Amino acid sequence: MCGIVGYVGEQKAAPILLDGLGKLEYRGYDSAGIAVYDGKKIGMKKAKGRLKVLSELTHDGETLPGTLGIGHTRWATHGEPSDVNAHPHLNAEESIVVVHNGIIENYMKLKKKLIGRGYQFLSDTDTEVIVHLLDYYYNGNPLQTITKIMHRMEGSYALGIIFKDHPEELYAVRKDSPLIVGHAKSGCIIASDVPAVLKYTRDVYFIENEEIVRMKKDSMEFFTVDEEVIEKESVHIAWDVDAAEKGGYEHFMLKEMYEQPKAITDTFSPRLKGNTIEIEELNMSDEEIQSIRKLMIVACGSAYHAGVTAKYVLEGMARVPVEVDLASEYRYRDALIDEGTLIIIISQSGETADSLAALRESKQKGARVLGIVNVVGSSIAREADNVMYTWAGPEIAVATTKAYSCQLIALYLLAMKFAKVRGTITESELVQYIEDLKRIPDQVELLLNNKNRIQKFANRYLAARDVFFIGRGIDYAISLEGSLKLKEISYIHSEAYAAGELKHGTISLIEEGTLVAAVLTQENLYKKMLSNVVEVRTRGAFVLAVTNEGNDQVEKAADYVIYIPKTNQYFTNSLAIIPLQLFGYYISVGKGCDVDKPRNLAKSVTVE
Ligand code: AGP
Repeated sequence: MCGIVGYVGEQKAAPILLDGLGKLEYRGYDSAGIAVYDGKKIGMKKAKGRLKVLSELTHDGETLPGTLGIGHTRWATHGEPSDVNAHPHLNAEESIVVVHNGIIENYMKLKKKLIGRGYQFLSDTDTEVIVHLLDYYYNGNPLQTITKIMHRMEGSYALGIIFKDHPEELYAVRKDSPLIVGHAKSGCIIASDVPAVLKYTRDVYFIENEEIVRMKKDSMEFFTVDEEVIEKESVHIAWDVDAAEKGGYEHFMLKEMYEQPKAITDTFSPRLKGNTIEIEELNMSDEEIQSIRKLMIVACGSAYHAGVTAKYVLEGMARVPVEVDLASEYRYRDALIDEGTLIIIISQSGETADSLAALRESKQKGARVLGIVNVVGSSIAREADNVMYTWAGPEIAVATTKAYSCQLIALYLLAMKFAKVRGTITESELVQYIEDLKRIPDQVELLLNNKNRIQKFANRYLAARDVFFIGRGIDYAISLEGSLKLKEISYIHSEAYAAGELKHGTISLIEEGTLVAAVLTQENLYKKMLSNVVEVRTRGAFVLAVTNEGNDQVEKAADYVIYIPKTNQYFTNSLAIIPLQLFGYYISVGKGCDVDKPRNLAKSVTVE
């Protein structure tokens, strides 16, 4: 996610802005910029690349004098990483300047209206709409202007805004994207997150949704969207910088697990229009979707596990044949592709060498390639014919959680879209799926809040040597991801196995006390799974079962049961994976492993 900072006071703004942006670097970004009012004009510098580039461009801020300014580190969502897409954004008269963290979901509609009124856009960003909207409504009263645009914009935003003809004032607004303000260095400071202000103050005001702040060097006023003045209490921050970067969580992985409800919502909400699925970026007509004869999903690691889930969902919902391949295998097996094949490359980083190579090979064979990617402007995103982004925001922990969850959501949306277009689901079925989809964020939240029970259970298995995850159908796909999470961050050997396959050899490894995690979310397979649970238990296994609420027959068969809330058969991975993420996390913490940076691993495997 992007980072914003702002300052108004008696000190030079630029060095304070650069320092604040430096404290937000951990959030991940691809470009940065600052704008400072020097008493006559708004000076601005912005550039693709690291903050170092910006500091060099501005001689550490010296070239931008003035005591009122805003700054930004950009994590691209709409518009590739580039100088022109970097924030801040100015209106044509250079009298208003804005920085933004969030996604304006109706920006295309607003952009079309503004272009119709003669506005010219320099960038591909959703943010530029904001500054032209402010320009359009500006009547000399910044507060009134801001409330007007708040009624027009849909989506999430934390804004820093300067109006040239109000040179003593800095404005900030919040809806859904975090924003804090505080007193600092004979002035006031705004930021997306605590680390940027800790140098100046530990007493901050957390801005709530649809609140506006007007700051001067020695005053701070808070307003509602109806321009009513409100009083706010400051909060004392006791965290050190390291804890602050993790938002108070012990590790980025835990923080990112807790970001899953919002990341999931951010991924599906722009694509739900009432009771229809709109995936504009797919750029495929209904006829083209109907003409697809086969889907080939290619990925690595957790992205591959999302693909295995998608096979069951797409074949079940859309009745289209799906092959799923590890990218490292796919690229050397001369796969059979024809004009009726759609290749889907799933990748969080968009830079995984094997997945990128698979994309290039597919295109050489004339196939159409859709990327499902988290990093905007990454190689896979740029080279795919079309790209469907997962709006998970930057993922810092090497072990993926929120990006994986968003890959699942993107694949569910694709399956629902294909199924409706291909006529394999009815209107009422689609409505039900959409209802189920909308419930997932709250259900994930519920499961995350069950973390203490998982932690207690995990602490019993810190010395485990072998852990097995078994399931059938989608539950097998869940087992694959649950096993990888445990392995990669706790270094305990683990294996995911199709439950029906155990008896063909592997069951000989089960002995007294072996932990077996059995996933039973597919109602049509409960009976089969229960017999597999009995199978391993009679051989001494301790069985942890993850199953749907209401399936209490499992209590008799398993030793420990974790229930997940009800959803439809296709979406259970999004819920069952939460306790398994927490299980792996707490085992890793209990063993004192480096949770966020496990040994031997990289966040993006850009080499073969
Ligand atoms: C996930 O926890 C792993 N770190 C790893 O398997 C990862 O999913 C895999 O390397 C693929 O990465 P990508 O999604 O960036 O292509």
